[in-house]
Parts: sequence; structure tokens; C-alpha cells
Amino acid sequence: MIKVTINPGQKTLIVPINSLALDVLKKTDIVLVTPCGGKGICGKCKIRVFPKILDLDDNQKELLTEEEIEKGVCLACQTYLTQDSTLFIPDDVEKNKAYFAAKNKVNSNYLTDDFQPSTQIKKVFIKLMPPDLQDQRSDWSRVKSELENNIKDNNFKYDIPISILAKIPVLLRDNNFQITLVLYENKIIAIEPGDTRKNIYGVAFDIGTTTIAGYLLNLSTFKTIATEASANPQHVYGDDVISRIDFSKQNKAGLQELQQKLITELNRIIISLSKKAGIDYQQIYLASVVGNPSMQHFLWALPVENIAVSPYIPVITDSIYKEARDLPGFCLIPHAGVYTAPNVSAYIGGDTIADMIDISIWQKKDNILLVDLGTNGEIVLSVAGKIYTCSAAAGPAFEGARISHGMRADYGAIDSVRMRDEKIEYRVIGKTKAKGICGSGLIDLIAGLVNYKVIKPDGRLLTSEEYKNNKISKKYLAEKIIEEKNENKFLVVDKKETINGISIFLTQKDIREFQLAKAAIGAGIKILLELANINENDIDIVLLAGSFGNVLDAKNLVTLNVIPKVTLCKIKSIGNAAGRGAIKLLLSEKIRNLAQEIREKTKYIELSCYENFQEIFTEKLFFN
Ligand code: FES
Repeated sequence: MIKVTINPGQKTLIVPINSLALDVLKKTDIVLVTPCGGKGICGKCKIRVFPKILDLDDNQKELLTEEEIEKGVCLACQTYLTQDSTLFIPDDVEKNKAYFAAKNKVNSNYLTDDFQPSTQIKKVFIKLMPPDLQDQRSDWSRVKSELENNIKDNNFKYDIPISILAKIPVLLRDNNFQITLVLYENKIIAIEPGDTRKNIYGVAFDIGTTTIAGYLLNLSTFKTIATEASANPQHVYGDDVISRIDFSKQNKAGLQELQQKLITELNRIIISLSKKAGIDYQQIYLASVVGNPSMQHFLWALPVENIAVSPYIPVITDSIYKEARDLPGFCLIPHAGVYTAPNVSAYIGGDTIADMIDISIWQKKDNILLVDLGTNGEIVLSVAGKIYTCSAAAGPAFEGARISHGMRADYGAIDSVRMRDEKIEYRVIGKTKAKGICGSGLIDLIAGLVNYKVIKPDGRLLTSEEYKNNKISKKYLAEKIIEEKNENKFLVVDKKETINGISIFLTQKDIREFQLAKAAIGAGIKILLELANINENDIDIVLLAGSFGNVLDAKNLVTLNVIPKVTLCKIKSIGNAAGRGAIKLLLSEKIRNLAQEIREKTKYIELSCYENFQEIFTEKLFFN
């Protein structure tokens, strides 16, 4: 065994010799960014180790600068510890946590006027006379008859689990024969001492591949009483769904490990929400969960391997309603309900259904295009009551991955760029120096460079000389184009202005990566329009969903030919529609039934089968 100290924090762990540094960190609450899932490809999981690792392999040497190697920096996912060591975690990892905490302020104005909530969770308070020799009815008989009086239905068939039945005698006698019964439809799901009718809660979750948002609701007032967002802890297995599916395939208990990661985080969020709202989380009786099909499968530990390979078959697309006890280690009371929304296909999930619920798609007469940009762009087109959907495999560029200085929208990420005639202005998350660029910043930057003709419509970044010859060229932009190792790159932020003293560049390769992502989305939209037999001008409204949608500059998406060239007033960011949809699913059985109907009515289009897909994709690679 060896002793490993982790700084900051001076936390000490005793671990077997030859432990992987990343595995050691997984035992703590330190969450390194591991976009490639620990495969040693992305080079993002840098830590400093003391004593220095002397025999770094060629792969690590390739991904690290000489200066970093000199300082003892290495990749946590590729470094095995062979002696007592101290691991130094970069400052910004700690600050990411603070950033996620700050993001907790999620807008809580969720419900529209036309939404009628109604919960099936009911609480009944009963007050019994203590038994005596004249009344020797069983405890349950007396509870039941009082309940029937209360509900005014003598033929009501109750279902009471034995575990709850077993609690009745003590609970009655310890509480002066006054208890509250919690019912879900005809089932008694809990009994509580005294009168707890006012305390009745539910929780809704939107589990994204990157972020989990949780909402705590009072089920008697239907008001949201606390919200919280945090990083999906599964990202240690990779930033994208496919890396996580690979992990579950390659490791015997991988699926259960992924499930536990989720459940542990949901528990943490539930406890934190309850503390914020000052309630007892044991009085949360229903949870609704939406997410992409893989996330929903991970939650139930359902095998995911067939989602990743053609013909892409999930285990289930129906909604699931089970009890909390079916999720090992879940902190809600055993008989609390857990609902996951229906999926449409292997890549269109409950979160897209929740998007559609949020905008009441079944009531819409307009032609609506809804786009949720991400590693998998989900696209929905509603035309005259018909709903078409497809999933565009955009790759992780929109989330800042596979981009040289790309990163998630975390502390230190440039999330917005404005190109001016005389300078570039940018905004950094956390109001700090920049460390990298996230998806929204990347879109702004590339759009700016296309507008200023530094990037040609085919995606080629001009050389400095070529650009200077352009009549409208700007001197400051020309000076930022650098040629290195036969590749052109554009200097976004000089090393003097960054957190880590490393310059932030946009390379030609990054632009190509971005083109692939945007072509996938553009092709998906075009194909749906063709199938619905309408053209761009017939679109009445374009809705941009997802937290990404909030910070996107719609004009730039149009400039880059990501979304159709509609007038800007037709484009609207709707933020976390999936989160609001999850709340509506929590609050109404009618909406849960509607979700199933929408699923059945939605026509899923497999883009790879579309005859002209390749042609359309190639056409959409261009920025015009
Ligand atoms: Fe370590 Fe990608 S290189 S996570």
C-alpha cells in the first residue's frame, strides 16, 4: 500500500501500489474533467504529482508541453502511482464546484397559465378511538374504516404493503392514535405520526449528459420551492454517452457503477434541496425523471450496448413507473413513485418528450422547429399536427470537446465573443482570466471570423498574407493568424491573459470539427423539412432549447448556416424546457398520459437511412 496526499485539502488516502491516479481521485469529491473517459486521448485530466513521474510514455509526452513535464504535470488517467505521492489538483477544478453552485439559481417561473396541475398523491389524517374490550377490531380494520369514512367510498380497494402494515401498531400507540396515511391511487405508500397533511412534496430531475437539474415542488401548492444544478458525475467515464456505454460494456459491474454514480448524485441533490426548503426529504413521494435514453437506461441499470450499435435498439421506449426501492440506495421512502418519461428511439429520449410537453406541442397549429444543440442535437419539427424528429450526431464540438482549447461551459470558459472593427471582446464564465472556450463562445468566434472573411465559406482559415490582401482586412486580425507545423491557427487570447499561461488558439482542425457538428444539425433540419414537405420560409418559429440555448446568439447560428435563415424575430431561446417538462410530468397524470401519446404520434427519422443524407450533409458543411 502507498500513502497519497491530495492538495488542496491535505486529504490522505491509503491505496494499493500501482493505483491509477484518476481512480484515487474518484474516491474523493474531486471531479476532474475527463472528456475522453480516461482513454488518454484528450489531454484534459492534468494534475501535478510529487515526486515527479519520470517515465512518462510517448502519448503523455505528446499531450503535455515540455514546461508541464518539467513541473511534474501528468495525465491522471494514464499515471500509475508506485510510491507515496502528493497529487496537486489545478485551482480551477475547485472553482468549477463553486461555479456549479452558482448555477443553482435556476429560473423558477415554470408553469404557464393553461397548465392544470393535479397530483394523485393524497394525504388522509385519521384520529381513532383507542381500542377496548368492547371494540376488539384489528388495528387495520379500524384504520381502514376511518379511511373509508374520510374518502367516502366503502368499496375502495386498498393496497397496503406488509412493511407499512407492520408499523401501524407502534405508530398508533405512540401518537395518541393520530396518524396520516399517504396514498398514491389506491395504494398506501407511507404512514406518518400526527397530522402531516401540509407536507407533501415531489421532485423533478432533468438528467443531462453534462448537467443534472433538480426541482423540489410542494405538491399541495404546486409551487417550486428549491432548485439545484450540478455536474453529472458520470463524466469521469467520458463526456459523451458513447464513452459511458463503452465503460459499461467493458467492465463487469460497469452498468451498476454508472447507475450508482447517478443515484448518489440524485440523493445529494434531494438532500440539498430539502435543506434549502427546510423540509424532510422522507416526505417526497414522487420523482419524475427525464433524460436522454442512455441516461434513463443508466438510472434503471438497463443494458445499453444495443443503443450504441446499428440498428440502435434501446431496451424500452415506454415510460416507466416503479417504486424508489427498485433503485438501489435511492434515498426516498421505499414506496415513493419514480417515473421516467417515454423515449422515442435510441437517441431521442424523455428529455425531448419533456421539451415537447413544455411547449404544449399538441396544441400548436404553427410550424415549429425545436432544436436542442448538444453532442446529440435533437431536432423536432411540428407541422399541422404532425411531429417529426431526428437525432443529429453532432459530436462534442458544441460542448467544447475535441476542440484544441475547448472546454465545458465552466469556470474560465469564454462563453461569448464579439468581433469589433478594432478588437475582439469576450466574456469569461466566473469573470476571471480565460482558460478555454466553450460551445457558445466557439459559435460566436467562428461566426465573427466568417463575417470578417478570415474564414472562407468552405471553412478554410486564410493565412495572414492571404488575409492582408483582402480589401476589408483588419490589421489586428491579420496579426493573430499564425502558421505553425503547416497548420494555420488564430490566436484568441494571448498567454499573458489566460489562467494557466497557455495561449488559446482556434486551429484549422477545430474549424473542421465544428463544420462536422453544424453540418449534422443542418442536414437533420433540412431532411425533416423535406419530409414534412415545407421549406424554410414556412417555419413560423424556431425554438432553441437547452441551457446552451440561453446564451447562444441566434444571429450567429443563422450566419453559420446551423439553423434556417429565418428572420431573427422568429427565433426564441426557451432555456431548460426539459426541466419544465419534467415538472409538468411530476404534477399531472394527464400530462404523463399525453407524453405517451406524443411518443406514439412522433415519427422518428433515422438520418443515416435517408437517401440523400450524404449529399445534404456535404452541402451543410459550408458557411453560406
Ligand atoms: Fe485523461 Fe482524456 S486524457 S481523460
